[in-house]
Amino acid sequence: MKKFVDTLRISITDKCNFNCVYCSRKFNKVDRKEILSFEEIVKIIKILIPFGVEKIKITGGEPLIRKNLPFLIKKISQIESIKEVSLTTNGFYLSEKIDELIIAGLKRVNISLDTLNKDKFKFITGFDCFDIVIDGIKKAKDKFSIIKLNVVLMKINFDEIFDFVEFAKENNLILRFIELMPVNNNLDIWKENFVAYTDAIKKIESKTGIYFLSQDRNTKYYLIEKDNLKIGFITSVREPFCSICSKIRIDSLGNLFLCLYGKPVLNFKELLYGLNKEEIRKILIEKINSKPLFRNYSNLPVMNIIGG
Ligand code: 5AD
Ligand code: SF4
Repeated sequence: MKKFVDTLRISITDKCNFNCVYCSRKFNKVDRKEILSFEEIVKIIKILIPFGVEKIKITGGEPLIRKNLPFLIKKISQIESIKEVSLTTNGFYLSEKIDELIIAGLKRVNISLDTLNKDKFKFITGFDCFDIVIDGIKKAKDKFSIIKLNVVLMKINFDEIFDFVEFAKENNLILRFIELMPVNNNLDIWKENFVAYTDAIKKIESKTGIYFLSQDRNTKYYLIEKDNLKIGFITSVREPFCSICSKIRIDSLGNLFLCLYGKPVLNFKELLYGLNKEEIRKILIEKINSKPLFRNYSNLPVMNIIGG
């Protein structure tokens, strides 16, 4: 079956200034020289345009760590057919870098924050810098019309669901709870901490009405009656959305993944070295058409290299 692809998620570094409990970062490091250069990234995106790619999500590790990121954003935004360049970040460098990112053409940010409690923040990320991240969020909310706040749903933050709803309302953020996924090297944490999105819904239902609104790509949106607020659930574990997934991923080493849980199907760094654009596209046609419709849990992803 021919698959439709419109979004490329590209990891530009495996490095991160945090060390989240559920991430694979502490175990998987890569050699600097193997990381894709900006030039390679721009070439790859241009190669992918005829396949339908029009939205680029920059991820990491923590993408704001990469030097000269605004330059890359500008270059990508200038590619004809690219409609949107967005970024996922842990928020730490946001207040410092936001102005240059916007000037470069960044349209949206997704910010990850798993707790509103300072001590828990230190426990989850390994760093005592909750206030800096909050500062980044406050600054960002005045500059972007849409900010998604991504909260990985876990036993350790299950008591904070209503605090997050309040926080999202106050700061005009699109709140999305993400089910914790089993990834490379986090199985113990995953088993201990996994919470199904249906449990979060039950908890909200015990206090106020919550109504299903829509399935928008990977997110199920619900309306919380009391707050008149729309919130999302990314139900990657309980209800995977593989059959409607229109995303492909490239890790920081240039490996192409058709699925977060798949094996790499090719390496762009190698192909760019020996082949021209059209030759690479020929190889891609067959690969992209084999994008899977189901997930195979036998390949657990390395999150800091592939990106969440
Ligand atoms: N399960 C769910 N989300 C994860 N992320 C990283 N690892 C996991 C996991 N195991 C998220 C980050 C961030 C995004 C980039 O990916 O918290 O929101
Ligand atoms: Fe960094 Fe994201 Fe991994 Fe946390 S989950 S350590 S913020 S890459």
